[in-house]
Amino acid sequence: MAKIILTGDRPTGRLHIGHYVGSLRRRVELQNSGEFDEVNILIADAQALTDNFDNPEKVRDNIFEVAIDYISCGIDPKKSNIIIQSMIPELTELTFYYADLVTVARLQRNPTVKTEVGMRGFGASIPVGFFTYPISQAADITAFKATTVPAGEDQEPMIEQTREIVRSFNSTYHCSTLVEPEIMLPGNQASMRLPGTDGKEKMSKSLGNCIYLSDPAAEVKRKVMGMYTDPRHVNVSDPGRIEGNTVFTYLDAFCKDEYFAEYAPEYANLQEMKEHYQRGGLGDVKVKKFLNNVLQETLEPIRKKRAELEKDIPYVYEVLKEGTAAGEKKAAETLAEVKHSMKIDYFNGDEWLVSQEKKFAEKAASADASKPSKSNIQLLRQKAAEARKAAKEKNK
Ligand code: TRP
Repeated sequence: MAKIILTGDRPTGRLHIGHYVGSLRRRVELQNSGEFDEVNILIADAQALTDNFDNPEKVRDNIFEVAIDYISCGIDPKKSNIIIQSMIPELTELTFYYADLVTVARLQRNPTVKTEVGMRGFGASIPVGFFTYPISQAADITAFKATTVPAGEDQEPMIEQTREIVRSFNSTYHCSTLVEPEIMLPGNQASMRLPGTDGKEKMSKSLGNCIYLSDPAAEVKRKVMGMYTDPRHVNVSDPGRIEGNTVFTYLDAFCKDEYFAEYAPEYANLQEMKEHYQRGGLGDVKVKKFLNNVLQETLEPIRKKRAELEKDIPYVYEVLKEGTAAGEKKAAETLAEVKHSMKIDYFNGDEWLVSQEKKFAEKAASADASKPSKSNIQLLRQKAAEARKAAKEKNK
């Protein structure tokens, strides 16, 4: 079976280093590994609209931002399709049929939806589109016959729901049309989720604690120098804590041994630096300066590529158009198979016409057969007449 990747993002803002560590870096590796027959990356604008329907401009704008972020990070349009979700009507159609296989109670149990409903303050007024987006995500994944969905932990309930839909579809319609996907979680702990620069659990635009891939170097430095560390590490000589110290969490995610020779030659590796910090005698400013250098090593090539792309927007447009066209072709094939399995492919060939013609012809023939024929009627009349005659004679 072909190994196919499908993954995606909602285009509600520029991508930040949390996205880089949590997913982008991995996607580039997978793309270049040669292990996959297809890599599809979905810009999920229709899903973004489920809670931004009143702000389509924002979504529209960010499609380009996200596409530029992808390519800057090393997504190669020759190897991966970058696809705009809403431009593939087949996904909407699949969603509608899958909705038959999912109960309201099942959607209510989806923990990610639950959390998001709370975060967005929908209360009792949850838009149906938002509530049902896991079904649409199942359509995204299955339309491409994806075997592998690289995504964060928060997407696990979506993949589980997708797998249930696949099983339900294949068993209800006695087929093996749909493929059950597997989630591929980020590799190491530091990659799971990068906290915000303020030490809060998550990087998020609304909290203003993100470092964006597109931030200029000076902006990155400013944000790093203002980062949350260990609040009890007041004097340089004080012992410091590594756990929950955002600067070290970022170093875990970005640092390579080779950076020490250049930026902190007094240490051989991160472990030595950490031990010094824990012992006392290593100041936050010094660690932050080191982190800034480490981050700039990663971000500088990305910024360079971004600057090139920003000067060639028609190229990015073509990439989106071609990726979407390739995506639609695939989704249309799957939709045709789905409809065939559900026996709702009426005008596909003449099977329906022929079978209906036969059904009605048979109905007409059997109606003819059970209708008493003329000779039968005559026989009945004759019998009735004989019976009357016999009765009369008896009464005489
Ligand atoms: N729900 C994902 C997110 O919020 C985005 C997404 C949409 C997605 N369709 C997908 C992810 C399909 C993986 C596969 O980030």
